[in-house]
Amino acid sequence: MNQSPDTLTLALSKGRILEATLPLLASAGITLQDDPETSRKLVFETNKPGLRLLVIRASDVPTFVSYGAADIGVAGKDVLIEHGGADLYEPVDLGIAKCRLMTAGLPGAMDAAKHRPLRVATKYVETTRAHFARIGRQVEIIKLYGSMELAPIVGLADVIVDLVDTGNTLYANGLEPFDLIEDISARLVVNKAAQKMKHAQIGELVSLFGQTEAA
Ligand code: ADP
Ligand code: PRP
Ligand code: MG
Repeated sequence: MNQSPDTLTLALSKGRILEATLPLLASAGITLQDDPETSRKLVFETNKPGLRLLVIRASDVPTFVSYGAADIGVAGKDVLIEHGGADLYEPVDLGIAKCRLMTAGLPGAMDAAKHRPLRVATKYVETTRAHFARIGRQVEIIKLYGSMELAPIVGLADVIVDLVDTGNTLYANGLEPFDLIEDISARLVVNKAAQKMKHAQIGELVSLFGQTEAA
């Protein structure tokens, strides 16, 4: 799929980001021809000439934008920290999909493993490594792709690093939050070359999102 200089491609992910971003677009009069929550399509045309959407996995948004397969994207700060993010511009904090990246576990779990590395289950491997290096604690990291809350219950890990919003998922599983690693919200990210080559179109979209900023 080639990028025409006249086309602007916005990458979003199904679920929370899409649910929160579509109303921001709609408030600027931008609508989609198909419903991305139900359609099997991955590319969606909009009623704004030259603007189309890609609907991809949340953790793939920085990759698509970084390589220029999308000019602009919406991604959680958690995903951006894990990706590295230095190759992207991050002009707007959209103030949507707010939560906290935290350590959590069964009560007392942080003190349980004093004489061996703490076993930490997470999908945020790099962020977890950096966090525990910062606080000087030795860890063994176990990579998971979801349902992290299960890991301490079944003895797979001492603690987890995961997102917490209401805390309901933790409490429903007998876990408690420990330390805050980062406050999270969704950010607009922009490809650096596209920022130069498509300055006017990107500027228009960025200011549109900036104005509807919910933060
Ligand atoms: P995934 O399939 O990757 O879990 P989600 O739609 O659940 O996709 O998450 C997308 C982004 O929304 C995350 O990267 C994070 O920034 C944010 N997020 C995830 N879970 C929550 C939550 N419970 N409350 C608020 N924001 C969340
Ligand atoms: C996210 C996150 C936690 C939960 C936190 O999961 O990974 O499990 O939300 O929210 P809470 O504190 O309000 O309970 P999500 O609902 O996105 O499920 P999934 O990513 O495993 O599909
Ligand atoms: Mg999720």
